[in-house]
Amino acid sequence: MTRVSVDLAGAPYDILIAPGAFDDIGTHLAGYARAGRLIGVTDEGVAAHWLEPLKQGLAACDITLDLFTVPQGEGAKSWTWLERLLDWLLDRGVERGDHILALGGGVVGDLTGFAAAIAKRGCNFVQLPTSLLAQVDSSVGGKTAINTGAGKNLVGAFHQPAFVLIDPKVLATLPARELRAGWAEVVKYGLIDDADFFAWCEDNRAAFFAGDLAIRQTAIEKAVRAKARIVAEDERETTGVRALLNLGHTFGHALEAETGFSKRLLHGEAVAAGMALAFRYSVHRGECPAEDAQRAAALLSASALPVTLLEADSDTDGATLVDHMRHDKKMAGGTLPFLLARGIGQTWLAKNVDLNDVARFLDAERAR
Ligand code: GLY
Repeated sequence: MTRVSVDLAGAPYDILIAPGAFDDIGTHLAGYARAGRLIGVTDEGVAAHWLEPLKQGLAACDITLDLFTVPQGEGAKSWTWLERLLDWLLDRGVERGDHILALGGGVVGDLTGFAAAIAKRGCNFVQLPTSLLAQVDSSVGGKTAINTGAGKNLVGAFHQPAFVLIDPKVLATLPARELRAGWAEVVKYGLIDDADFFAWCEDNRAAFFAGDLAIRQTAIEKAVRAKARIVAEDERETTGVRALLNLGHTFGHALEAETGFSKRLLHGEAVAAGMALAFRYSVHRGECPAEDAQRAAALLSASALPVTLLEADSDTDGATLVDHMRHDKKMAGGTLPFLLARGIGQTWLAKNVDLNDVARFLDAERAR
């Protein structure tokens, strides 16, 4: 069991990474119940696996669990589901001091966090992430949002959870494709600023996917520690430090837009291809050794993740992809900050990237 603190001035909180925590859920959550009751949100897929065990675990500590269930998938991050959830919370008499549970992956966490940020002008919430991506990225750091017709995550708030409880054992029921997509975000932390961790990922990939619990625990812990450190340094992405977490996301966002933000390409898969493209674009600019870009792509490929436009189901021309990038919420004054690499573990934020050059690079990538 490992406890990681997110040292935010005013609102520090803990992330507990504990294999088997869900078997002993009442002990971990008793302090967040009010009058013997917890309220929360989950999705249909997670409910099928975890609702009964969690209810029983809480009942053992005399706590009842009242859950709002949303459909699986990005569609739940919508005005419609936000309104339904808020109505439900208000109907249940939610109070500011309550801790609303988010039991699920990134969609449930983002929707619940945003509802918690605005219900009664702000309630507490607790993250119980059940996907690898949510465990190593979205449950930590307080980014909450829904999608709108104009794009993904365009309406939301920074709202930090009061507690994050991660049970690596729950990954046993996660579909293999989602596990791979989450692994891309684990590898990301190595590529950003930790070459030793990247090498650890190379050495331990097979054991991770074979289900080795100690290796999974270490991977999650390393990722969460990295994220907690970065978030504590730059909570609202104002100094450029937190922006490092967006490695692969600008290219990836264009690929997700091209594939309609659909199951054709999961977010983590888009990030994998986006990171491979960011490294090769850095080589194209003469700023990164080609062997580092090859090494980054080799690990992602060995993890059955996409690393080319074709593999990301997005074999379109560079101008179209760059056009998608222009709708990115990070656009500022007509330019788009790009995460580029000088090597493995040496990511940096470039502010004056020529989008026409990016389009030419992407056109050349189609031949790959
Ligand atoms: N997923 C990027 C961030 O939390 O800043």
